[in-house]
Amino acid sequence: MKDKLESIKSQSIAEIDTVDSIQQLEEIRIKYLGKKGQLTQLLRGMGQLKPEERPVIGQLANEIRDMISEKIEETAYCLKRKEREKRLRNEFIDVTMPGRTKKLGNRHPLTKVLDEIEDIFIGMGFSIVEGPEIEKVYYNFDALNHSEHHPARDMQDTFYITEELLLRTQTSPNQVRTMEKQKPPIRVIVPGRVYRSDEIDATHSPMFHQIEGLVVDKGITMANLKGTLELFAKKLFGEHIQTKFRPHYFPFTEPSAEMDCTCSSCGGDGCHICKNTGWIEILGAGMVHPNVLENCNIDSTVYSGFAFGMGLDRIAMLKYDISDLRLMFENDKRFLEQF
Ligand code: PHE
Repeated sequence: MKDKLESIKSQSIAEIDTVDSIQQLEEIRIKYLGKKGQLTQLLRGMGQLKPEERPVIGQLANEIRDMISEKIEETAYCLKRKEREKRLRNEFIDVTMPGRTKKLGNRHPLTKVLDEIEDIFIGMGFSIVEGPEIEKVYYNFDALNHSEHHPARDMQDTFYITEELLLRTQTSPNQVRTMEKQKPPIRVIVPGRVYRSDEIDATHSPMFHQIEGLVVDKGITMANLKGTLELFAKKLFGEHIQTKFRPHYFPFTEPSAEMDCTCSSCGGDGCHICKNTGWIEILGAGMVHPNVLENCNIDSTVYSGFAFGMGLDRIAMLKYDISDLRLMFENDKRFLEQF
């Protein structure tokens, strides 16, 4: 029995010396000191010893148990310390290391021009409103006095969602939406995305941006339209810019016109940007058609108004001399950083 105890002692100590984790150490404790451990089992057999041997073996067994426990405790302490040191080493942060720089983005040229245009109109007493991009056919066409067979209604040109819903082809539906909600005097601009079934090339995109304008009050005339839009053009492109109005047709304005500006690139002499005409078309406009006013329950014998719609992308391209519309939507930072 004594030999067995001695061998448990030396064997357990040797095993403890090789452990490198708390878990292994616990396994060793169970193996020797646990309820079914080797030492515990051995002590159960004490009954078979001669009475005079019992105290001697008992004392030896206790000594060995204490020794093993102590050794386990010591080793556990060392292991925990080592683990903590290792963890601290891993968590070490070199505060002197240079940080990773984050590159700031740029405001998109469209956003910049839109802000500028909004500022100009706010300065003239307009407010800014927005409308839905998924629009009712009623607002996009019917209420805007498009006849039933107007070519713009064509499935080929317009993205229909259902028979009654489409992706708006213009921001003009917001003329109607505004007049339904608000009594005159009205002075609003409505920026937003519009959609047409166009092939993508340097000057076309199935998605682009417009800014709608609407003024309704008593006594509004074509002179107010011309004065407002001429002032706008001079503020945006410079005092030297000249404007002219050409007759045009829109179903929802009468009379209708398009406004041209002298080419800001060549000053009117003629260049590749204005196709040698010296003029560049900027927007469509006109006096709100009485039918449209009546569709919105506004008495067209008392009130009159003017409306206009301009392409934001085109204006940004002119202002920043950008030759390809596609650049606007690719979000290449090398392009965006230039503005
Ligand atoms: N909605 C017209 C277009 O997309 C522009 C326009 C707006 C014309 C308002 C007149 C009045 O071409």
